[in-house]
Amino acid sequence: MTTALITGSTAGIGAAFARRLAADGHNLVLVARDTKRLGEQATELHDRHGIEAEVLTADLATDDGIEAVAARLSDRRNAVDLLINNAGFGNKGRYLDVPMADELTMLKVHCEAVLRLTSAATGAMRDRGRGGVVNVASVAAFLPRGTYGASKAWVVQFTQGAAKDLAGSGVRLMALCPGFVRTEFHERAGMGTDNIPDWMWLDADKLVAAALSDLARGKSLSVPDPRYKVLMGLVKVTPRGLLGGISTRTGRKYGPQ
Ligand SMILES: NC(=O)c1ccc[n+]([C@@H]2O[C@H](COP(=O)([O-])OP(=O)(O)OC[C@H]3O[C@@H](n4cnc5c(N)ncnc54)[C@H](OP(=O)(O)O)[C@@H]3O)[C@@H](O)[C@H]2O)c1
Repeated sequence: MTTALITGSTAGIGAAFARRLAADGHNLVLVARDTKRLGEQATELHDRHGIEAEVLTADLATDDGIEAVAARLSDRRNAVDLLINNAGFGNKGRYLDVPMADELTMLKVHCEAVLRLTSAATGAMRDRGRGGVVNVASVAAFLPRGTYGASKAWVVQFTQGAAKDLAGSGVRLMALCPGFVRTEFHERAGMGTDNIPDWMWLDADKLVAAALSDLARGKSLSVPDPRYKVLMGLVKVTPRGLLGGISTRTGRKYGPQ
C-alpha cells in the first residue's frame, strides 16, 4: 500500500484528492490547521475505504508547521510516495490594499512551504527511485495578478524546473493549474462569486481525476479542462500589455484565483 500526504486536505480541492486517493486504496497523511476537522475526515475515510488516515495538524504559515510536515516527509521508515502541496488561500483586494503581513503569509504558504516540503519529499523519493509531487498552482500563474498570480507563477516555474532536474530519477513532479473551482476559497477570502459565469466553474472531483491521469502520463504541467486549455491558449497570444489591462480591470473580487 502506498501513502499520500495532502496539505489543505479538509476542504475543496485537497478534500477531493483525499476522497479519490482513499478510494484508490492509498493510506493518507492529512494536513491542515483544524485538528477536529482533520480527525473527522480521517475517521470518515478510514470507515468508508478501509485505509489508514494519519492526522498532522500544522500551520504552513509558520516555521514550526513547515518543519513538522517536512520531518514526516523525510521519515524513511514510514515513506510518503505522493505529496500533494495544495494548501493555499486568497487575499481580497489589489496591490497596496492588502496588508503587507497577509502578502508575506501568502508567500510563506504558497512558495516557502512548497519549496521546503517538495525538497523534503523528493530527497527521500529520489533515494527510493520513485515518487510523485503535485504542486497546486492556478491559471492565475499565467496572468499579471498581484502577489497571488506571482506566487502561483513561482509554483509553476519551480515545479517544472525541478521536474527537469529530477528526470530519470523515478520522481515525477507536476504543477496543477485549475481555473475556478467551487470550494471554500472565495468565501474564506471574502470574495463575491455572483458574476462568475456558470461555465467557468470546475468540479473538484473531475479536476482531481484529470490531474492524477496527467501525473500518470508524466506531464509536468496540468491545465485539466478543455475550457481553460482554450483560454490559456488565448492568453499566450494576447499582448502582455493588453493582458495586464484586462487582468487589472477585471475586479480582483471576481478574477480567477
Ligand atoms: N478554488 C479555486 O477557484 C482555485 C483555483 C485555482 C487554484 N486554487 C488553489 O487550490 C488550492 C486549494 O484551494 P481550495 O479552493 O481547495 O481552498 P479551500 O476550500 O479554502 O481549502 C483550503 C485548505 O487549505 C487549508 N489551509 C489553508 N491555510 C493553511 C495553512 N496556513 N496551513 C495549513 N493548511 C492551510 C485549509 O484548512 P485549515 O483552514 O484547517 O488549515 C483547507 O483544508 C490553493 O492552493 C488555491 O490557491 C483554487
